Amino acid sequence: MSIVLRAPEVVETPRLLLRRPHASDAGAIFSRYAVDPDVTRYVGWAAHKSVDDTRGFLAFDDSQWEKWPAGSFLCWARDSGALLGGTGLLFETPQRAMTGYVFARDSWGRGYATEALGAMVDLSRTLGVLRLYALCHTDHRASARVLEKCGFSLEGTLRRYAEFPNFRPGEPQDVLCYSTILEKSL
Ligand SMILES: CC(C)(COP(=O)(O)OP(=O)(O)OC[C@H]1O[C@@H](n2cnc3c(N)ncnc32)[C@H](O)[C@@H]1OP(=O)(O)O)[C@@H](O)C(=O)NCCC(=O)NCCS
Repeated sequence: MSIVLRAPEVVETPRLLLRRPHASDAGAIFSRYAVDPDVTRYVGWAAHKSVDDTRGFLAFDDSQWEKWPAGSFLCWARDSGALLGGTGLLFETPQRAMTGYVFARDSWGRGYATEALGAMVDLSRTLGVLRLYALCHTDHRASARVLEKCGFSLEGTLRRYAEFPNFRPGEPQDVLCYSTILEKSL
């Protein structure tokens, strides 16, 4: 009999509370970061134009949580309760997932992305993920640094691989592919 592992819907780190999004979070996600052109420059999704776009993301994310052991997590400051950003796991197979992170402009440079990604690495290991990977634009040094700090290795450059709808729409860009290979722990 195979055991289907499920992520907890709340994960705590020293400074962050990571929680599965609720429908009622749409307004906060939209106004804190999903609408911000500085934040969305190097993400793979179009900056949200209205809260309806954010609701569309939340519906997609719900479907991921239904189908797979986990999906997105919102990152909240444990001290102030403020919404800081988001991270998560996008499963492609039971043993392969992609990760990413996005933080509100006023929370950059404080180690939050590194703390959140570290939690996604630990969670992935407990869920039986073998290959956890991430893609970032070749110019995005901060994101590459976060991945390196969390033990990801650079596999190479995928040339003209991905579109960045808020950066050069319609022109696929070179991306760095980083991965970490995990040993299962329970
Ligand atoms: C990229 C992002 C997640 C980083 O979040 P963060 O909380 O500031 O990251 P951390 O503080 O954990 O770490 C950032 C690291 O990058 C370094 N860094 C920042 N800007 C840099 C730059 N221009 N060049 C080189 N390193 C840089 C920081 O010094 C730090 O490394 P250090 O701890 O060794 O000093 C955040 O800027 C963000 O949300 N950007 C918008 C969304 C996005 O681009 N997401 C990633 C898509 S691939």
